[in-house]
Amino acid sequence: MPRKNLEKLIRLIPLVDEYVDKVHEIEKISYKAPWSKFGFYAEIRNPFSLSYVLFLEDKIVGYIVLWDYGKSLHVANITVHPDYRRMGLGRFMIRFAKEKAKERGIRFLTLEVRRSNLPARRLYESEGFVEIGVIKGYYPGDFEDAIIYQYEAPCSKNSKEERN
Ligand SMILES: CC(C)(COP(=O)(O)OP(=O)(O)OC[C@H]1O[C@@H](n2cnc3c(N)ncnc32)[C@H](O)[C@@H]1OP(=O)(O)O)[C@@H](O)C(=O)NCCC(=O)NCCS
Repeated sequence: MPRKNLEKLIRLIPLVDEYVDKVHEIEKISYKAPWSKFGFYAEIRNPFSLSYVLFLEDKIVGYIVLWDYGKSLHVANITVHPDYRRMGLGRFMIRFAKEKAKERGIRFLTLEVRRSNLPARRLYESEGFVEIGVIKGYYPGDFEDAIIYQYEAPCSKNSKEERN
């Protein structure tokens, strides 16, 4: 399906308890060390967390969890169901995160990613994220390094309203 047409069929809806089972199914098939169901229930109740489910028509195909750290919005989880990857959905969610940051007057987006996760790294780099650090052996289990990325929004006319 052409990506332009796809955008008409997708929407991001706040995560609520009834979506957690489906989200967790996607989580389990996407990560070596998946978040628990409890983790997602906790996100719904965390006042600093913004969690959204990505619907393609009436099907849940992905999700994004953002943490508002005040000066930065941290992408804590971004996942697309394996059957729906490489269709532009990850990019759609990253752009949504940029919009959320802008709405909140936040200029920085941050995230960490496994060194070997080239699909995700290509996505972030193509969206203007730059590598700002490495945490050696960050991931429990296999102790793979985490690469830290940051995106800085260009200054806007409303920059006085941005948090400083
Ligand atoms: C990372 C992830 C969210 C990307 O989602 P996606 O919907 O497949 O990504 P998109 O289709 O929007 O791709 C955007 C760009 O990312 C890059 N990209 C995505 N998948 C890629 C792959 N398999 N190989 C190389 N580049 C890739 C490309 O530059 C792509 O642009 P293009 O298709 O125009 O060339 C998805 O692969 C995923 O859920 N992975 C498992 C969970 C995960 O690792 N999340 C990130 C944790 S930090």
